[in-house]
Amino acid sequence: MYVYLNGKIVPSKEALVSVFDHGFLYGDGIYETMRVYDGVIFKLDEHIKRLYRSASLIGLTIPQGVDSLKISLYETLIANNLRNAYVRLTVSRGRGELGLDPELCSDPTVVIIAHKFKKYPKELYQNGIKVIISQTRRNLKEAISPKIKSLNFLNNILAKIEAKRAGAYEAIMLNVNNELTEGTISNVFFYKDGVLCTPSIECGILDGITRETIIEIARRKNLKIKEGRFKRKDIYSSEEVFITNTTLEVMPISSIDKYRYKIGSITKSLHHLYRQEVNAYVAAIKAEGPSIWGRNI
Ligand code: PDD
Repeated sequence: MYVYLNGKIVPSKEALVSVFDHGFLYGDGIYETMRVYDGVIFKLDEHIKRLYRSASLIGLTIPQGVDSLKISLYETLIANNLRNAYVRLTVSRGRGELGLDPELCSDPTVVIIAHKFKKYPKELYQNGIKVIISQTRRNLKEAISPKIKSLNFLNNILAKIEAKRAGAYEAIMLNVNNELTEGTISNVFFYKDGVLCTPSIECGILDGITRETIIEIARRKNLKIKEGRFKRKDIYSSEEVFITNTTLEVMPISSIDKYRYKIGSITKSLHHLYRQEVNAYVAAIKAEGPSIWGRNI
């Protein structure tokens, strides 16, 4: 396996980062997770845009331009001979003396890790997953905005620990106003009385790229959709519930705490339409020519 590290593609054993890297010391950095379908990185522009937004929100200058980053992503895929993959692009503040001051670090560390996409078990999609609403609240957006996809994941990890203790796959977090926000690595949707509902960005969530794609699909299909402020009782009393993210796509939920849900037709059809969207995207990119970024992959 080969890893991209600061401009070079090296064997994974040689892909080492300093113990003085502020990403390691303070969680000072950002990242994106992307999925590659048949050699094409799905919604690459959206991921790159969000990466630059995260960078700007923490005052970090990414040392490479957009095109150069895209080439590096594809070169990492080529080096590993991957067509269906998971890719993670991480940019940390870089190496520097101890201390919080970002100016202690002159060169950000850029890492790209790609590996074969390991499919989630089919049964999860057929039967749904168990979810809890955690005691751990989502970070206050005025404290650390969830819009920053940062390396500082302890808030989510604490909720994940709760989920694991309860034998659940994912935890949905409330904010300090008792409003639903998101999962530890996902956005959440529920269907109730003919309306597809999802917490609005104002509740303090990451504006997931999969979430946006689902909202677009739902609008196109004339499904009523509401982005709003919801409470625990709204989701408990819903008919169908699912979570979304880049790797899971659309994952049905079978239970939240003591409430159970069927894997219904809305969830199934939105997942089907999402897959169609992916296929259309991949076909459109391929139609641009036999190679992307000057390389055949
Ligand atoms: N996580 N909310 C949180 C807190 C997330 O970490 C993620 C993604 C999402 C969904 O975003 P998207 O649809 O753009 O993947 C929502 C990725 C998958 C991760 O942490 O690796």
